[in-house]
Amino acid sequence: MLVNMKELLADAEKGDYAVGSFSVANMEMVLGVIKAAEELNAPVILQIAEVRLKQSPLEIIGPLMVAAAKSARVPVAVHFDHGKTMEKISQALEIGFTSVMFDGSHLPLDENIEMTKKVIEKAKQYGAAVEAEIGCVGGSEDGSEDIAINCTRPEDAVRFEKETGVDALAIAIGNAHGNYKSTPKLRFDILSEVDSLTETPLVLHGGTGITPEDFVRCSKTGIKKINIATATFDKVESTVRKCYNENRINGYYDLQGAEVEGAYQNAKTHILIFGTDNKA
Ligand code: 13P
Repeated sequence: MLVNMKELLADAEKGDYAVGSFSVANMEMVLGVIKAAEELNAPVILQIAEVRLKQSPLEIIGPLMVAAAKSARVPVAVHFDHGKTMEKISQALEIGFTSVMFDGSHLPLDENIEMTKKVIEKAKQYGAAVEAEIGCVGGSEDGSEDIAINCTRPEDAVRFEKETGVDALAIAIGNAHGNYKSTPKLRFDILSEVDSLTETPLVLHGGTGITPEDFVRCSKTGIKKINIATATFDKVESTVRKCYNENRINGYYDLQGAEVEGAYQNAKTHILIFGTDNKA
């Protein structure tokens, strides 16, 4: 069933776990994530980032994501990731997304606050949740920019929460999008401080490559939503490659099945690490 992201994160807060937010690029990935969530009886979030719309147009993939959420046997929120323009954020809300992110992390804090407030006003008309980001998560969602990591200042998180009342807040603690060159050393000191000073559910971007132990530690220290993108794409690709190498693909529908399988395996692994199984 399609649900508001706020509900999922509030339940995660009570249950001391984090909800996986899986980036999808096509129907096969949507089917794979939903299959894993249903099998494990887990709530889940489907997301797509604005920079990915070149490959997967919002007017086509958006309704598909919403329809998949509505027909799922578990709670599913549909989220617009790294929204940059009011135009696309509004389009996502119109299609029925139950959550949108405004990424103003590159802006001065004052401007980020002002813009986030405008997005909150807009999302309110649709009853949708809003995520924002302060500090800078490294890299960029599609690898096109090499943005430096700029860790969140706890005092900024306090001010941002107070002035915007945002529903979810992405913070930067040494995490980055894409594959890490070496295992990241997350700044748990900053995370603990932000967690103790704020009440807003926190979001961890750049989930690919973070160790299971760190995921669990994050989920016990205020992180209630964890974004996974590259790991999904990589697993889909490697599963297809493996099936070809083993001569298990004879025709298009075997290829389609391999894609669904890759997305399913990746979502399953992460749902179990995040402790979201049997929380639907
Ligand atoms: P990864 O590609 O590192 O998993 O990051 C995902 C993400 O944060 C999307 O917003």
